[in-house]
Amino acid sequence: MKQNITLSPTRRVVLGTSLAAGAAAALVACGQGKSGESVPSPTGTAYDATDLSRLAVQGTTSVTVNGHNYLLYRPDEKTVLAYTSVCTHQGCKVGTGDSTNFICPCHGSEFSKADGSVAQGPADKPLTRYATSIEGDKVKIYL
Ligand code: FES
Repeated sequence: MKQNITLSPTRRVVLGTSLAAGAAAALVACGQGKSGESVPSPTGTAYDATDLSRLAVQGTTSVTVNGHNYLLYRPDEKTVLAYTSVCTHQGCKVGTGDSTNFICPCHGSEFSKADGSVAQGPADKPLTRYATSIEGDKVKIYL
């Protein structure tokens, strides 16, 4: 079953869930290479990003997949959001930050964990967002 959730007129998150009783759960969230805008269904290759059991609800982690670093945020039981960790200001590695924002240590830019948008400059562009899915205990990222 797929659900479209409208966050604002210009921002959407596409969630697809397959939650049959007693069956493996699958969930798809976000879009590939998008930020703060309408997000397409996952495309590209799915890579294992982490075990779901290692990412608590409201938790954030940094992972390396296929030689690149990504930030994962789990806002609820059934959703994991993924973003590049490359700061849109001057390319530093953005950190896991506080409870609401990812924070870049170089010049203090902050990005919303909810959609990657800029919460505080000097960065003026959102973090690139990637599609994810939850398959059993595995969090997949689509690159
Ligand atoms: Fe991230 Fe400047 S490189 S704030």
